[in-house]
Amino acid sequence: MSRLPPVTSATAAPPEFTHAAHKGNVTLRPDHIATLREHNPTVPVRHMDFGFETAPLTRYFYDNNAVATAFFLAFSAVIPQGERFFIHSVRQYRDQLNDPELEARVTGFIGQEAMHGKEHDAANAAYEKMGYPIGRIDRSVREALKLLAKTLPKPAQLAFTVALEHYTAIIAEDVMRREAVQQKFAPEIGALILWHMMEETEHKAVAFDVYDKCVGSYALRAGVMVPTTLALIAALANLQFYLLHHDGALRRPGQWRAHLRGFAEVYGPRGLFGRVLPQLLDYFKPGFHPNHHDTEELLARFREKFFGAQGELNAQLRKTVLPPVRSVA
Ligand SMILES: [Fe+2]
Ligand SMILES: [Fe+2]
Repeated sequence: MSRLPPVTSATAAPPEFTHAAHKGNVTLRPDHIATLREHNPTVPVRHMDFGFETAPLTRYFYDNNAVATAFFLAFSAVIPQGERFFIHSVRQYRDQLNDPELEARVTGFIGQEAMHGKEHDAANAAYEKMGYPIGRIDRSVREALKLLAKTLPKPAQLAFTVALEHYTAIIAEDVMRREAVQQKFAPEIGALILWHMMEETEHKAVAFDVYDKCVGSYALRAGVMVPTTLALIAALANLQFYLLHHDGALRRPGQWRAHLRGFAEVYGPRGLFGRVLPQLLDYFKPGFHPNHHDTEELLARFREKFFGAQGELNAQLRKTVLPPVRSVA
């Protein structure tokens, strides 16, 4: 990412960058559409350093609950390799875009995902030191995704990324709208997860737009979502139980109520997945686009909260890089 010119300093508040409207089928309010046109539509790459090498970490960092924490830890464990796969699947189409604005957004997408991988790697290493077998998980995920990259056709790889980007976008939006959920994270890991969620929301349409332009098949997009959903839930649940088994939390007596509460937080009808079911189903509409879920106001709020004049994460921000839109001669 060092190729990109830095546009803001570590202390300056980044401007309000926004996404480009998509082919006129975005259901945004008129004032939002005006905002979208006014601003550079590229995706800013924020170089962060959360200092996980030295920061004290909370063992049960979500609601002091072993079961729910194991889910988020499983999520963090798969992120670095997952992000690399997303980058790979989108990068394969970069030369076919012929659209300077989308190319710049792809550069921003790659930069953001690379930063997520780097900071989750640092957090994972710290949890490994606490005794969790994250390195082992990372190696198995790397092998599994290497196999997918070798065997799946390129369009299916991209459809898989688009499906997972939809999950991250709808779960991120839901959590960003729920103060009560945010409060349950210990501050050091909450900052990482919410920064990540904010940037997932910023680039939620990038892989989709690349797919739309270079592949375009509705049947493949919708068809791939079904096995992706099954694989995602099965993989995360499997890793969650693996981490719980390793931690020994399920064998501790007298905690079954807390364990059930932890399972409901993730898999219950009002849990992490259950709450976003309507937004998940939107994906199956033939004309669906991620910007149909309007998150501009929410994003503006979080950019101000984290990186505004009094931003909570300005101390962790090293620099922000704005990928330029190449001018067409
Ligand atoms: Fe990410
Ligand atoms: Fe993403």
